[in-house]
Amino acid sequence: MERTLRGQGVGKRLLFTGIEWARQYEFHKLVLTLFPENTAARFLYLQAGFRSVGILHEQAQLDGRWRDTELMEYIIPRSEDSTKR
Ligand SMILES: CC(C)(COP(=O)(O)OP(=O)(O)OC[C@H]1O[C@@H](n2cnc3c(N)ncnc32)[C@H](O)[C@@H]1OP(=O)(O)O)[C@@H](O)C(=O)NCCC(=O)NCCS
Repeated sequence: MERTLRGQGVGKRLLFTGIEWARQYEFHKLVLTLFPENTAARFLYLQAGFRSVGILHEQAQLDGRWRDTELMEYIIPRSEDSTKR
C-alpha cells in the first residue's frame, strides 16, 4: 500500500474483498507469510481470521541478513459452516 494511503481502511477492504472473492470461487484455504515484526499486517491478518501456524527461521536473506517469516493460514468457512464457527 502506498505510504500516504495507509491507515485509512483500504488494506482491510482489499483483504476482505479478496477473502470474499476466494469464498465465492470455493477456495478451501488461504496461506500467507509475513515478517513477524510487521505489526500492521499481522494485526490485519489476525483480525481477518488468519491464524499463526509457526515461524520459518532464516527463511530468506534481505540486505545480507537472514530473516524469519511467519506462516499463517485461513480456512474459508463454507456458508453451511458459518453458524458453527
Ligand atoms: C499492511 C497494510 C497492507 C495494511 O493496510 P492499511 O490500509 O494501512 O490498513 P487499514 O487502514 O485497512 O487497517 C487494517 C488493520 O490493520 C491493522 N493496522 C493498520 N495499521 C496499523 C499500525 N500502524 N499498527 C498496528 N496495526 C495496524 C489494524 O488491525 C487495522 O484494523 P483497525 O482499523 O480495525 O484497527 C499496509 O500497512 C502496507 O501496505 N504495509 C506495507 C507493505 C506490507 O507490509 N504488506 C504486507 C506484507 S505481508
